[in-house]
Amino acid sequence: MSSSSPDLFQNVPGAVSVYEVSLRDGLQNENATVPLSGKLRLVDALVASGLRRIEITSFVSPRWIPQLADADELAEIVIASRAPSSPEVAFSALCPNARGLERAKSAGMKEIAVFMSASETHNKKNINKTIAETMTAFESTIGPAREAGMRVRGYVSTVWGCPYEGAVAPATSIAIARRLFEMGCYQVSLGDTIGAGTPRQTHEVVKRALDALPVEAVAMHMHDTRGTALANVVVGLELGVRNFDASVGGLGGCPYAPGAAGNVATEDLVYMLEGMGVETGIDLERLVEAARAAESIVGRPLPGKVHRAGIRSLRA
Ligand code: HMG
Ligand code: MG
Repeated sequence: MSSSSPDLFQNVPGAVSVYEVSLRDGLQNENATVPLSGKLRLVDALVASGLRRIEITSFVSPRWIPQLADADELAEIVIASRAPSSPEVAFSALCPNARGLERAKSAGMKEIAVFMSASETHNKKNINKTIAETMTAFESTIGPAREAGMRVRGYVSTVWGCPYEGAVAPATSIAIARRLFEMGCYQVSLGDTIGAGTPRQTHEVVKRALDALPVEAVAMHMHDTRGTALANVVVGLELGVRNFDASVGGLGGCPYAPGAAGNVATEDLVYMLEGMGVETGIDLERLVEAARAAESIVGRPLPGKVHRAGIRSLRA
């Protein structure tokens, strides 16, 4: 007896790319600042797991995000002593403006990520600008970064809902995503910042995104506050999405979205993908070790499930 309808999972890609955000999205939300040595330990564990895209920090104001105040030093060390032995790994960092770009360039970064929200209130609370002012700031960030030979990724936050304004129209979010793509972002990550999304809503958001952007330019960044992140990922997969953000151990949140939990745990995402026959290029056992390293550096248990339950057989 067939266990699933032949129509189900027809569009699921054979391989996907996972973009790791624990060192940035995760650590920015910890009460205690993790020392540089702990961050480097996590970088090494993530690289060893086979992850090929790792966001390591943010070149934002240290007054706004003190946990990442060592961004310049961390990035310089990673670029000088980790990047040469792992040329296949793209290390990236958040940049809100031209000042952040200068810091990224000085550290030798080859990729940055710009970020903004689809809702005015979250945008203002997070980066102290209106949406229109943010677009203007990005003119002196995205273009100059591209001219300097860097790759630029974009984030749109609050796509599935804003902690201050509530519902956000998908048309608004996708228009911003399209604009970021036209300004030079190779990929735009759509963020469920507060982890409120449900599958039918995800279907509408992602379908609109795929109507507006090439499939490789669409990524999903799903916080797991209400336990719906993996269900939403399955909807994205079924629509053909090939890029997913994740945070090892489920570390993280957004300090300007109160109560938001971390991104979907990388080990839970990879477990599910590999179990579905979708290749990630990531060694799950080593990823579980990275999740344990993350727990050790923050000094508390993390919510990811697979690193606690164990891997067992992938395809029973
Ligand atoms: P501001 O106070 O409006 O900045 O902050 P300003 O331009 O008025 O400058 C004020 C001071 O900050 C000046 O210094 C600038 O030099 C300095 P002073 O003259 O007073 O000594 N400054 C900087 N310093 C270091 N690096 C910089 C920088 N820029 C200005 N790049 C700013 C504006 C954008 C800087 C601030 O609001 C900020 O840093 N915000 C970052 C907030 C943040 O990191 N939030 C979390 C990340 S977003 C997220 O988590 C969502 C995401 O995961 C997706 C999702 O889940 O949806 C990406
Ligand atoms: Mg986030």
